[in-house]
Amino acid sequence: MNGSLEDVMNSSRIWLGRHNEEFARSLPAGSIVLDAGAGSQPYRHLFDHCIYEAADFEMVDKEYAKSTYVCDLSSIPVAEARFDAIVLNQVLEHLSDPVAVLQEMHRVLKDGGTMICSAPLFYEEHEQPYDFFRYTQFAWRHLLGNAGFEIISLDWMEGYLGTVAYQMETASKHLPRGAKNIAPGALGVAAVPLLASVRIACRHLARVFYRLDAQQKYTQSGFPKNYIVVAKKLFVARQAA
Ligand SMILES: C[S@@+](CC[C@H](N)C(=O)[O-])C[C@H]1O[C@@H](n2cnc3c(N)ncnc32)[C@H](O)[C@@H]1O
Repeated sequence: MNGSLEDVMNSSRIWLGRHNEEFARSLPAGSIVLDAGAGSQPYRHLFDHCIYEAADFEMVDKEYAKSTYVCDLSSIPVAEARFDAIVLNQVLEHLSDPVAVLQEMHRVLKDGGTMICSAPLFYEEHEQPYDFFRYTQFAWRHLLGNAGFEIISLDWMEGYLGTVAYQMETASKHLPRGAKNIAPGALGVAAVPLLASVRIACRHLARVFYRLDAQQKYTQSGFPKNYIVVAKKLFVARQAA
């Protein structure tokens, strides 16, 4: 997904790109940035003015970019307060122990350092078997607050049209085909053309809704697919030895 408006199939990636771009622009040149759970490092180019390092455990059967640290995110082999900023995109749902990882993010971040995080509220299982949780806005506040972060912003990552587009996209792929799979007897037979039409309509409407969502985020009702959060490490009063 390159995020261009010509091929809007998943507006969430477009919004994720925009939010990360804004976060990257807020960092002074030379900042040391950790992309935690970086995967293929799709946002690396946004941090060209920074010193970019990536950590990932590389356990999923997929293509990875070369990580600086191949490790579990609950134990990163660096000294405390190494990083000025952390990028934690689409990772928290994959962690069996998110509390331990947020504590580790807190350890490796400088006082006053910032972190951008995103994770789904509503999304199908993926990267199995490493898929454990979905996060509400209240979970974000609870987990980040307990780990010693102050929330700077907490937003819907995409608008409700993006959520509906995703529902329509998945319906176009997963609605059952074949009378026996739908309902027993004549009802199943009668429903075949109905579901076929719904599948086709959903496929086309999903494209339209993704394009609309990429243009403007509608947040007045409904719910997002993801939340996106920017948080800051609170200053830690250290005891004199
Ligand atoms: C959905 S991908 C997101 C990748 C990238 N951040 C992005 O936005 O495209 C989640 C990534 O987290 C990594 N990951 C999951 N659990 C991890 C853990 N406990 N320690 C280190 N990396 C982990 C996976 O290997 C995967 O690359």
